[in-house]
Amino acid sequence: MKYTNEELCQKAIEAMQRSYSPYSNCKVGAALLARSGKVYLGCNIENASYSPTICAERTAFAKAVSEGECEFEAIAIVGSPNGKIDRVFAPCGVCRQVMAEFCDADNFRILLVKAPNAYEEVTLAELLPYTFDRRSIEYS
Ligand code: THU
Repeated sequence: MKYTNEELCQKAIEAMQRSYSPYSNCKVGAALLARSGKVYLGCNIENASYSPTICAERTAFAKAVSEGECEFEAIAIVGSPNGKIDRVFAPCGVCRQVMAEFCDADNFRILLVKAPNAYEEVTLAELLPYTFDRRSIEYS
């Protein structure tokens, strides 16, 4: 199945319903489209000890990479502290760094859901300029 941006955003909203967030009550969902055409869903998973908490985006990457996927086309992200989807929820710095490991800075589409039927599209280059990635630690 080929996914449109709109469908990917709907998948992220679906993933958000599974958020395990009893501490922050902030529900986050992500839908990661791999180059294979498969979509991997992720939600944030919190923990009483706080620091083991994993973001929705990284849950999706962990699922995909552990299934053998290493190339990605797009991710849709949605989040809300009160259940209403009425503004963009930008990915945290750690998740941006994980995207930088696997995704092309200019071509990977990041879809930030801002309403049930609306999103903004940005690139990783816009969200994470001056990137530290594997080229940073290569010998020349
Ligand atoms: N969170 C995400 O899932 N993704 C982000 O990019 C930022 C933060 C989650 C972690 C925590 O469960 C809640 O949002 C509040 O920080």
